[in-house]
Amino acid sequence: MACLHLFFFLLAHTNVIPLGYTNVMSRAVPETTMPQLLSDNDAAQKKVSHASRQIPQAIIIGVRKGGTRALLEMLDIHPEIVVAATEVHFFDWDDNYQKGLSWYRDLMPLSYRHQITIEKTPGYFTSPRAPERIHDMNSSVKLLLILRDPTERVISDYTQVYYNRLESHKPVQAFEDVVFKNGALNTKYKAIQRSLYDVHMAKWLQYFSNDQIHIVNGDTLIQNPLPELQKVEHFLCLSPKIMPSNFYFNQTKGFYCMRNEGKERCLHESKGRPHPTVNRTVLDQLRMYFSEHNKNFFSMVNQSFNWN
Ligand code: A3P
Repeated sequence: MACLHLFFFLLAHTNVIPLGYTNVMSRAVPETTMPQLLSDNDAAQKKVSHASRQIPQAIIIGVRKGGTRALLEMLDIHPEIVVAATEVHFFDWDDNYQKGLSWYRDLMPLSYRHQITIEKTPGYFTSPRAPERIHDMNSSVKLLLILRDPTERVISDYTQVYYNRLESHKPVQAFEDVVFKNGALNTKYKAIQRSLYDVHMAKWLQYFSNDQIHIVNGDTLIQNPLPELQKVEHFLCLSPKIMPSNFYFNQTKGFYCMRNEGKERCLHESKGRPHPTVNRTVLDQLRMYFSEHNKNFFSMVNQSFNWN
């Protein structure tokens, strides 16, 4: 049933654009390569003569630092998936939302009718407005949420801000100084707030059922990406096309990298940066703080994760 929904949405929301027209924001598919792309598909698909931009049928809603870029780029290996190159921020930024759905669609890459379009904007998960807005767009959209151990996610979030500040020559603070205020855990710290998965999930479950939100285990995606991607293929009603040969472990980077159509590629250097060593008591306090929230989250989504 869920797969049929996706099929009908695909048919209904296709905005046909003649071949050769590309949008600079999207992954450009040069006109001359398109017939070649189609030549690998079945006879019915070969009849398709127009590419179009489609409203996404699936959205990676977050969480920030959960592994959203890795998930998007790994899914992009699948021949029936096309992905938006940039984070669109349509449903979480009012200025963009006011521009309307056709503005949003114009930012999507060209695709054929048998393909599904995915965009990722990690800010959606923690946005108070995004669930209702996405539901208004398509109440049967498929949502992908990639989560990591919440404490690990806070450290990753801090690390990203730390490097951003260094690059723009702004002062930086040690992790412990940001996480603690007046000797107590600074629960107002945004990075901590973003790791309260139950608080954010509650808003999504007001609009979507659990079976519309597939949770990807971001810790597992780092260790062994393929099984997590196969679950996503199944969730998106796609035949399994992502293979073990699409990945290899890069010792220098310390992460899996991708191999597709003869090309090898790792994620940008800003993904997979070393984290600071954090004091044990600070870690314990964070874990204790998240513990009840995690339990609450597990019962909301009827599954549990190995978060300490
Ligand atoms: P760190 O840089 O803190 O290690 P996002 O894309 O949502 O910002 O998430 C970034 C995180 O993706 C990285 O956080 C990293 O741990 C994780 N990740 C998962 N798989 C990865 C991969 N194959 N290469 C690099 N980073 C990966």
